[in-house]
Amino acid sequence: MSTAERILHILRNDPGAWVSGEELSRLLRVSRSAVWKHMGSLRKDDYGIESSPRKGYRLTRNSPWLLPAEIREGLQTSFLGREEIAYFRETDSTNNRAKERAAAGASEGTLVIAEAQTGGRGRKGRSWFSPPGEGLYVSLVLRPRISPVEAPKITLIAGIATAETLIEAFPGRDVHIKWPNDVLVGAGKIAGILTEISSDMDRVGYLVSGLGLNVNTRRFPPELEGIATSLAMETGRVLDRAPLVRALLQRYETWYTAFLHEGPGPMLDRWKGLSRTLGTRIAVETPRGRRSGIARDLDGNGGLVLEDDAGRMHTIISGDVGTP
Ligand code: BTN
Repeated sequence: MSTAERILHILRNDPGAWVSGEELSRLLRVSRSAVWKHMGSLRKDDYGIESSPRKGYRLTRNSPWLLPAEIREGLQTSFLGREEIAYFRETDSTNNRAKERAAAGASEGTLVIAEAQTGGRGRKGRSWFSPPGEGLYVSLVLRPRISPVEAPKITLIAGIATAETLIEAFPGRDVHIKWPNDVLVGAGKIAGILTEISSDMDRVGYLVSGLGLNVNTRRFPPELEGIATSLAMETGRVLDRAPLVRALLQRYETWYTAFLHEGPGPMLDRWKGLSRTLGTRIAVETPRGRRSGIARDLDGNGGLVLEDDAGRMHTIISGDVGTP
């Protein structure tokens, strides 16, 4: 923890209470002028810090930004977000930053976060709407010892973690997953997942798991109106993003660890339970053309098993699901 993070921790311990500069300098073993300087840097990050020559300092408002200190406070994971959290006010794509870090040897669990993305990417070369301060734009570096064909399972894990986080935070809402990677509330897309890998023929070297979640987004561009939704639009409330990231990392770690230790069975079952795709009639745009039929199952690698009208089964590895 940095000194500024420790200061925050102390001020939060008794919310609204004053803590003297002298006490802070004693607890942190730094000079009073160092304490004063750190208060300046916390104010720059938009924390509300009141100071009084006689009483000391107190925290009056949290920072609205998704700062690493905010995420670390109360984070219970063992490795996701535990070491490096790389934070950007703006970047082109958090997946790009995570890939650079992974290629340079970043450890498993490295987390990249941005307040805004200028080139947020979705699947199939689409863009991801990433206005400042409104969403979660996060990417994780993972190093699973799996073959490249298994990588889509990590997309499923990210979908489960996201859907479960939303169900827990907003019980009673119709949260579900649309194959392969869309998380929906009702008919609106609230989150998307972009998994990218670097691998040789039989082993993944690293995997970057990118996730975009519309949290406080109030307006979408015309092409997304009626398709995308956000938590703020669904609940009418502005939400604190840090607890959502913590819950997400916790669930992600639980399912990822279960997958590595127990195999894909439990995770695939959970995904099937959260999906609204299976058992319904769908049309899928695949790289080889359009297919329609009934979505019957997920195969062991996360591919979609579709039964066409002649009763033949097809396994679809990549595609976009729509109504027929
Ligand atoms: C999709 O639904 O097509 C996937 C969208 C993934 C968006 C996230 S936002 C964080 C990360 N960085 C990116 O550029 N994309 C992913």
